Amino acid sequence: MESSKKAQATEKSKTRNRIAIFSSHNGSNFQKIVQACEEGNLNAQVVKLYCNNQDAYVLERAKDLSIPSVLIPQSQWNSFVDWDQFVSSDLIESQVQWVVLAGFMKKIGPKTIQAFENKIINTHPSLLPKYGGVGMYGHKVHEAVIANKETQSGITVHYVSENFDEGPVIAQKVIEVYGDDTANSLSERLKAIENDFFMQTLKQVFE
Ligand code: GRF
Repeated sequence: MESSKKAQATEKSKTRNRIAIFSSHNGSNFQKIVQACEEGNLNAQVVKLYCNNQDAYVLERAKDLSIPSVLIPQSQWNSFVDWDQFVSSDLIESQVQWVVLAGFMKKIGPKTIQAFENKIINTHPSLLPKYGGVGMYGHKVHEAVIANKETQSGITVHYVSENFDEGPVIAQKVIEVYGDDTANSLSERLKAIENDFFMQTLKQVFE
């Protein structure tokens, strides 16, 4: 009985998507994804966290959740090319199948993008192509949405290409922007639904 359970568990882990998550700061999406995997709500297993910031709170989350983390501040490599080479080789050696960017503030290099074509997924807090690209991150996105008096904003989950926030869109969630919204209130409303939306979208992609 025990051995058949073990065999079933081994079989299940063989079919689970092996994913790596890249995150630079807080890591709420990281935590949600790891927990969804553990609870069997996502057909995946988080193999590693890659983080470019040694002070990031996401590193503590990884420790608590027993997920190995790799620190990859680019300054520790001689060049972006070397950094990219390390990242792509390490992912391949770890038999990673999907890369999930969840608040990762650095550009992914061309070698990694080539090695994982249409296998790198990002979440962005606006309705791309609006409010994406260089300099459009965190609060800056919401400040720009408010300054331009947009009536809608939202979340975009998309594949990653060589240019920031330009890869093919997988799914979008629209929310209304109210007349009295501030960047803070908009950010809070988006944050409240982003973890679940990202997770549900990943679920569809992995299945
Ligand atoms: C998210 O809002 C995401 O849209 C953006 O970075 C943020 C990461 O949040 N790309 P967290 O670190 O997962 O809490």
